[in-house]
Amino acid sequence: MKRICLFLTAVFCTFSYALSAQPRLRADNIDEVLKAMTLEEKATLLVGARRSSMTSDEMTAFDRTTVPGAAGTTRPISRFGIPLTVLADGPAGLRISPTRPGTDATFYCTGFPVGTVLASMWNPALVEQLTTAMGEEVKEYGVDVLLAPGQNLHRNPLCGRNFEYFSEDPLLTGLTAAAYVKGVQSNGVGVSIKHFAANSQEVNRQQNDSRVNVRALRELYLKGFEIAVREADPWTVMSSYNRLNGPFTQQNYELLTTVLRDEWGFNGIVMTDWGNKAGTVDAVKAGNDLMEPGAESEIERIIAGVKDGRISQEELDRNVRRMLEYVVRTPRFKGYKFSNKPDLKGHAKLVHEATPEGLVLLENKGVLPLKDVSTVALYGIGSYDFIAGGTGSGNVNKAYVRNIAEGFKANGVEVDKDIQAWYESYLSYMKTERRINGRGGVLLGSTVIPELEVNRAVIERKAEQTDMAVLTISRNAGEGADRKALDGDWSLTGQERQLLQTLADVYHMAGKKLVVVLNIGGVIETDSWKKIPDAVLLAWTPGQEGGLAVADVLCGVANPSGKLPMTFPVGYFDIPSSRNFPYNYERPAFSYNTQRGPVKDVDYTDYAEGIWVGYRYFATAGKPVSYPFGYGLSYTTFAYAKPVVKVGKDGKVTASITVTNTGAVAGKEIVQVYVAAPDGGLVKPAFELKGFAKTKQLKPGASETLTVTIDPYTLASFNETTSAWETAAGTYTVCFGASSADFRANASFKLAKPQAWAAHRVLLPSEPVQEIKVK
Ligand code: BGC
Repeated sequence: MKRICLFLTAVFCTFSYALSAQPRLRADNIDEVLKAMTLEEKATLLVGARRSSMTSDEMTAFDRTTVPGAAGTTRPISRFGIPLTVLADGPAGLRISPTRPGTDATFYCTGFPVGTVLASMWNPALVEQLTTAMGEEVKEYGVDVLLAPGQNLHRNPLCGRNFEYFSEDPLLTGLTAAAYVKGVQSNGVGVSIKHFAANSQEVNRQQNDSRVNVRALRELYLKGFEIAVREADPWTVMSSYNRLNGPFTQQNYELLTTVLRDEWGFNGIVMTDWGNKAGTVDAVKAGNDLMEPGAESEIERIIAGVKDGRISQEELDRNVRRMLEYVVRTPRFKGYKFSNKPDLKGHAKLVHEATPEGLVLLENKGVLPLKDVSTVALYGIGSYDFIAGGTGSGNVNKAYVRNIAEGFKANGVEVDKDIQAWYESYLSYMKTERRINGRGGVLLGSTVIPELEVNRAVIERKAEQTDMAVLTISRNAGEGADRKALDGDWSLTGQERQLLQTLADVYHMAGKKLVVVLNIGGVIETDSWKKIPDAVLLAWTPGQEGGLAVADVLCGVANPSGKLPMTFPVGYFDIPSSRNFPYNYERPAFSYNTQRGPVKDVDYTDYAEGIWVGYRYFATAGKPVSYPFGYGLSYTTFAYAKPVVKVGKDGKVTASITVTNTGAVAGKEIVQVYVAAPDGGLVKPAFELKGFAKTKQLKPGASETLTVTIDPYTLASFNETTSAWETAAGTYTVCFGASSADFRANASFKLAKPQAWAAHRVLLPSEPVQEIKVK
């Protein structure tokens, strides 16, 4: 069997060139090293080292150098002193193996709040603080690049990986991603922003062709990446698995070079998502510098491509130079002596304190924060088996997950022991005897343990003995499968509904309250039941300290200040993209079906909703929603003063407003700045988010003036006809919102002249996608 392995390559190179003078790689001699490299060495550097293609001896040697459980590495070339560098997932913390053979030491990482929770904070400074801590774990565990953040847009709520992603809005996505990148990279390690681009579903994710018109592509699916690249200079970008308007993103020069590098100024490396696609030659030419996880066949394809002229020497050298530039930045290259002892305690404390900023209070009939409650009846398996994050490569190996029962205990509230015992024994039975772990495997989406059936008489008895009831409803999802618009996923099961109704009836009859906690990774149906309980707290899947944070919020130790980064519609089919999303698909299909021709939403997906995603659609069409984008309650109230909006000499718009805490407890407010454009230019949504700011913790009566600066480029829409970003002249209305449906103040400014920014006419679909008309 012909197999050139990583170490043989490195050893061979070392011997054959041992006698000649070798330049050792330094930051200032990259050209010299490049000149001295053979074609084989260059090809080697462009391909990752795949562990599964090694013998067990090689694996052992490899494991000694790399970090067990890391997703991949780049290859070392010892004669130039090029070390292997280590790449590991993300995004909710660092994902490596928690244990290693031959040692009792553990290598757990902090389970941070998932991407959606970070976006719900609307607080880039806090996100940066959290990811600065995350980056310290990356560095101290000997990893060079964190494969994160995931920043695909929430095109449809059923995408199985939405929890890893931020929002339905590209600005919130981009600014959260930029903060994330800055935090991690402040440690001298890198990130890989992913999955570039239009990777909006899991069904057939390796082959699916996202067909999307250029305006929606530029304004929505690329915008978040553009912001992160321009603002935060990520070391690497991960090209996605899917096709985009025909070619694979990994092999698309227009995407990876014309747009990413020439237009946005990206100067790091692009690596593929984890698969070996046949078009390696095209990938190299497109500007994809690193093939991950790497296969010998890819090295061979690159060598053959250079030999037969399909890859030019310049193209090869361009990518290799970028790899060398990447290598010299890494801690591995700099010989950093990592400790394997990150500050896990400190990070747990930080996560515990920060998490309430990402929790969203959806309903509160005055019951929260809890008063005079000493005993709680805690229902729902999620109360005891709390879900910290989703499944798949985004699942961090954390030492523990704090559940809500622990959270109440920490707050001095007693949890009914009988109920706790029923749930715990049920969970143990399901997990050990029925072998349902409630989490799913790495690439299986998720399996949720069915709710425990509790009979009414029992609830009645318990209602006499306890002060109130809490019901946790949980859902999980993850890489490899999309969610389903069915009971038990999108909507409640009959059993959940019945438990909810019985708890509400019984506790209300006893003059007591019921609070629902949603421990879910993505949007679910809420409209049909949300008024039944006395309060609903959306906890998301907020990381390892989640149960403590939830109880802190319920007990009033923390005031929740999260707001929704997406819309909660009334019904699933209210969402325009529901017409073009794999609907309740059972199993991923892996290739074009040549017998029947390509299958809609499996082999290709038409983004027929165009720009009408999320609130852009619901607000413009006037369609009722369950909870609007940007919505979230607080334990206090805020007054908005008269705003001031000015256009500066540099053309930048500054929008300022003073916010005052008018309630009785301290809290933070997020002011969202939406702009409605004048008629005359392109058809536009009723308004779009153009900036936001969050106050610091304001004591009752305290005020803060928030200022948001809007660059005119941010106001522009993409004109497909002229292939340019354009703003129309005229009067723009600036709306200061507590949510996208709750504008508290307005002001306006005028742009005297239209403005345009030219862009390349690239990434066009072979035929325009037929889009729905909303306006
Ligand atoms: C996922 C990426 C991940 C990579 C490495 C892929 O299957 O799509 O998000 O970074 O695996 O684990």
